[in-house]
Amino acid sequence: MRLGVLTGGGDCPGLNAVIRAVVRRSERHYNSSVVGFLDGWRGVIHNDTMDLDIETCRGILPRGGTILGTSRITPYMNDGDLDRAKATLAAQEIDALIVIGGEGTLSCAARAQTDGLNVIGVPKTIDNDISLTEATFGFDTALGIATDAIDRLHTTAESHDRVMVVEVMGRHVGHIAVRAGMAAGATMTLIPERPFDIAAVCESLVRRHDLGKYASIVVVAEGAKPVPGTMDIAPDEVDEFGHIRLGGISNRVASEIERRTGYETRVTILGYIQRGGTPSPADRVLSTRFGVAAADAAHDRDFGQMVALQRDRITRVALADATAELKLVDDELYEAASQFFA
Ligand code: F6P
Repeated sequence: MRLGVLTGGGDCPGLNAVIRAVVRRSERHYNSSVVGFLDGWRGVIHNDTMDLDIETCRGILPRGGTILGTSRITPYMNDGDLDRAKATLAAQEIDALIVIGGEGTLSCAARAQTDGLNVIGVPKTIDNDISLTEATFGFDTALGIATDAIDRLHTTAESHDRVMVVEVMGRHVGHIAVRAGMAAGATMTLIPERPFDIAAVCESLVRRHDLGKYASIVVVAEGAKPVPGTMDIAPDEVDEFGHIRLGGISNRVASEIERRTGYETRVTILGYIQRGGTPSPADRVLSTRFGVAAADAAHDRDFGQMVALQRDRITRVALADATAELKLVDDELYEAASQFFA
């Protein structure tokens, strides 16, 4: 068999570990070859490739980012691109395409499968918002970075008796925010799934202050939104791929807290630090298992599937089902986290 592999969407730690595992399993176990497409679907549309073998993958296991490059381009943006993608796959004699991506890239893969491509999905994203898998790779690394950052902010917050507002990634869901907030003892955590009332947030901070506990850490997921009508926010900006450009809600939250409570308030936006650099051991292991399982699914010709983690077993689920809706923060988890708010 000859497999193609691409990495799409925002990069995340563990992408190279998946690529390495796909190559290793395909070459060693199946005597198959693998070609990498550069910059996500762009490489498939424009036949821009890189040969991959065990030698080219040496040393990439702990390396962050992706040796293939990535983009948010899909074959559904411009007329004729899907046909170009099909022509590339035919010219390269690709039997199956392994698509490593998040919500956008995998939804596109599901659609491409119905349009006649042979596709296997691998769930990537620091946001951990893909359904039917208990984890996406990259999340554990981002969680570790966010937790470490909040730990560090505690001491400076305490020294100055300040409120620290920490913004973490989480476009539609608050998995990083809730878990990092829980792990590092946040005073309050605001997530996209539960619109917040800034008046209630401030009341809680004042109550805590009145009890003599001054410093507070408020964790805000970048996609968190106020209850409509309770706080003005800047209108959303949209990038060239129709993605809302997030980042900055923490500044609004901080200025409201300072204005309403009078407490000195500072902001830290963790941003791309959360998805840069080396993957955690757990992400290296998960990425490697996903890569091996994706190569197996391709060789079984079980197309249209996504590899997934369920009860610590690697399974396969239909790409269409996995991308039908996002995986939100579980109510029980949020309830446990909220016991420690203010
Ligand atoms: O989807 C992963 C993610 O890191 C989100 O948490 C974040 O909102 C988004 O990517 C940022 O994407 P970009 O690289 O396009 O700025």
